[in-house]
Amino acid sequence: MEEREISQAVIRRLPRYYRYLGELLEHGVERISSNDLSKRMKVTASQIRQDLNNFGGFGQQGYGYNVKYLYTEIGKILGLNENHNIIIIGAGNLGQALANYSAFESRGFILKGIFDVNPRLTGVTIRGIEIRMMEDLKDFVRENDIEIGVLTIPKTKAVEVANLLVDNGVKAIWNFAHTDLNLPDNIIVENVHLSESLMRLSYNITRYNEEHKND
Ligand code: NAI
Repeated sequence: MEEREISQAVIRRLPRYYRYLGELLEHGVERISSNDLSKRMKVTASQIRQDLNNFGGFGQQGYGYNVKYLYTEIGKILGLNENHNIIIIGAGNLGQALANYSAFESRGFILKGIFDVNPRLTGVTIRGIEIRMMEDLKDFVRENDIEIGVLTIPKTKAVEVANLLVDNGVKAIWNFAHTDLNLPDNIIVENVHLSESLMRLSYNITRYNEEHKND
């Protein structure tokens, strides 16, 4: 496959293609045209063709896309064909909820450890994984080949803990703390802010109500 820079906008859309194709596979669909996929996904067929052309285009004229092939290739592009070891820092409400979500594992994200500073959580296990104290973090990260750190701690501690992770070889941070981390360029950071999503929802409700106020 041709190696070239794929825009972040395309990368952001790939998980959705992956999800739809996975569902098609589950329903035994072997191939699909860009038009059919377009109807299901409510994006234009030309957008789909353009997006998928980034990877040399897996479609064939008159045949459409081979669902299994496309699903596998997008999975590879997203790195889902490999396992990634992760740890969660902050075993509070959110950290525990994420730790309890076993479906990440099926995508190759293997939860190796959970860390916290609250001694009352020592020895508590979630899905068989024990919560450890931060003193053990350095050795644990080094010994378990941890690639991704998930930050579900208060924002005041996030920068300090992110730096600690990076200093010990963690390559990527999935950041839920509401603060920017400003890490070195080679560190991959994905910020997740549910409240931003909620604000977009709020904007759209407000606009909808505005438009329908005279109905
Ligand atoms: P929580 O208070 O239930 O849990 C936080 C946990 O972090 C506690 O167990 C605490 O002992 C631990 N902790 C504090 N300092 C630490 C440190 N230096 N190292 C390791 N562990 C430490 O809070 P909750 O509700 O789970 O939220 C966690 C964080 O996630 C907060 O910063 C919150 O604002 C954020 N959040 C973000 C969301 C998002 O969409 N991005 C959604 C919900 C919460």
